[in-house]
Amino acid sequence: MKPEHFYVTTPIYYVNDKPHIGHAYTTILADVLARYHRLLGEPTHFLTGTDEHGQKVQQAAQAHGITPQEQCDQTVVRFQELWTKLDITHDDFIRTTEPRHKRVVQAILQDLWDRGEIYADEYVGWYCVPCERFFMEKDLVDGKCPDCNRAVEKLLEKNYFFRMGKYQEWLVRHIEEHPEFIQPEHRRQETLGFLRQPLGDLCISRPKSRLSWGIDLPFDQDYVTYVWFDALVNYISAVGYGADEARFAAWWPASYHLIGKDILTTHTVYWPTMLKAMGVELPRTIFAHGWWLVGRDKMSKSLGNVVNPMEMADTYGVDAFRYFLMAEMTLGQDASFTEEAFVTRYNADLANDLGNLTSRVVKMMARSFADKVPAAPAAGADEEELIAATLGAVNHMRDYLNAMQLDRGVAEVLGAVRAANRYFDRMQPWVLAKDPARQAELARVLCSAGECLRIVAGLLYPVMPEKMRALRAALGLPENQLEPHLETLAVWNGLVAGAELGPLETLFPRIDAKKPEPPAAKPAKAKEQAPAGVQLIDFATFTKVKLATALIREAERVEGADKLLKLQVQVGAEMRQVVAGIAKYYSPEELVGKTVVLVANLKPARLFGLESNGMLLAARAGKALRLLTPDGEMASGAEIG
Ligand code: ME8
Ligand code: MG
Repeated sequence: MKPEHFYVTTPIYYVNDKPHIGHAYTTILADVLARYHRLLGEPTHFLTGTDEHGQKVQQAAQAHGITPQEQCDQTVVRFQELWTKLDITHDDFIRTTEPRHKRVVQAILQDLWDRGEIYADEYVGWYCVPCERFFMEKDLVDGKCPDCNRAVEKLLEKNYFFRMGKYQEWLVRHIEEHPEFIQPEHRRQETLGFLRQPLGDLCISRPKSRLSWGIDLPFDQDYVTYVWFDALVNYISAVGYGADEARFAAWWPASYHLIGKDILTTHTVYWPTMLKAMGVELPRTIFAHGWWLVGRDKMSKSLGNVVNPMEMADTYGVDAFRYFLMAEMTLGQDASFTEEAFVTRYNADLANDLGNLTSRVVKMMARSFADKVPAAPAAGADEEELIAATLGAVNHMRDYLNAMQLDRGVAEVLGAVRAANRYFDRMQPWVLAKDPARQAELARVLCSAGECLRIVAGLLYPVMPEKMRALRAALGLPENQLEPHLETLAVWNGLVAGAELGPLETLFPRIDAKKPEPPAAKPAKAKEQAPAGVQLIDFATFTKVKLATALIREAERVEGADKLLKLQVQVGAEMRQVVAGIAKYYSPEELVGKTVVLVANLKPARLFGLESNGMLLAARAGKALRLLTPDGEMASGAEIG
């Protein structure tokens, strides 16, 4: 074993159809792992590719009226384009139709044949002519084809078999002695359960009369190799097995074969026994993740619910898509994909928690310290909790990474972001900014929140490479540090005083789940909204006023109107724009994140050309004005009355 080397693989995907979200998931997962291990400074090799032989591909080619090779050449491009789009950093892409792969498969077959690990046998089977499929006696239903229920023909067929059965005991022992070999644990138990029944030999050939699209058996030209006996070999043929021994020794054994739970047996039973027969060391870990469902359903063409990763990345951005897949799936379990869940998580974690913190910190630094990172006094008691949460996330991420619990690592990092937002609110830098005597304190607050962001952006870099580079650049980190090194993340005070801040784009613009309905009534004139004089009203009149809690998501000044702020507020599932005359009393930064009281059924009005949908309640006395807020945590959209 070479613990300092990291070699990760994905399944090689069938080229019978274009890629979907499941393929994207495994490949992004492998990419995130590879990127983390590169940050740790480990030599890393990341392999993906396509499985181009066999029945599925041959049938797809027939359906499209093209040759199997054309089917492969056309579809492989769809995978390669998707990996480019999704920022996948694989070191190699193997296609099983390449000579470098076919040669190795044939050499292995010849060797196993020469050593008696493969033998020929004749047996009786049943053939369904219309389906062009071969069945064993036990597969038939009432003596008929299990697929189409038509009569089948008896057939005497010769095939070649790999002596898999003789390795059963050895394999059980290996799995028992190496708990890390199959993960997660319930998949290991599943394999051990499978191995409680006698393990038969494996048919590794197909007569060309039934299937011609495959690698020829070197010792019998009338047969091609069974697709799995061909496909699994990619993991070693791609790193030089039988061709470049030094290269092979550098990478093998693989650290992780990442797979979905659908192909567990082929990877945990066929593959190890094949390697044993070849005399090759076993991979360290086979990790089977769960299934992406759409809502509660399996994805399928007939249900028309197949999620297209290319479209998702186009609509919402590559990094947001990568983030969602990594944060949402607990490795080993199934997960559900819906666009609602995507938008909710995106808005909560990225637009709100991470995006807002970034814009608050960078904008205040730019404004108060002339676009530079200020020199700041050392952190003190006020920063303790923030530092603990942030440096804790560094350790947690490393541990969860080793335990393959990426979603929990990501959750820890977001926890640090939330700690920074709380810190910011508690320290009220907008108050400090107004006081020339407190600029050092201001610098400390901004730099502390900025430190948290620097580290967070490093930890999330493997998940969101482009956005986290942009975030690190905005914090003034030099070009050669935009890609982080994990050692520099474990220390506080990595921002460089005096560094010029980089440009700040809106990292994660909010996505409106539901666009608010256009106002039915014509915008009313301001005087129609003028409050009536004091008079007694009955309860029924009071209930005509709909009051609701609203969460302020965005706030900005209005050009040319020094009293007004333009706010985007969330009322339950709805977003609204409210223009409020509170700029003299509140800065935009301190408003974001507050839950306030909104008159929700006021007719829309126009102020300075801006539409305002509702009014915020505030208490006023002389020169003071304070917004009303609920006494404690309260969701937005809650009714008040
Ligand atoms: O099985 N959720 O290729 P394949 C999560 N060629 N992951 C999914 C998924 C879903 N709904 N659907 C597919 C093959 N996957 C063989 C592999 S390896 C030597 C040969 C992912 O195109 C998951 O990784 O059917 C699954 O194992 C793989 O795609 C199957 O891809
Ligand atoms: Mg499949």
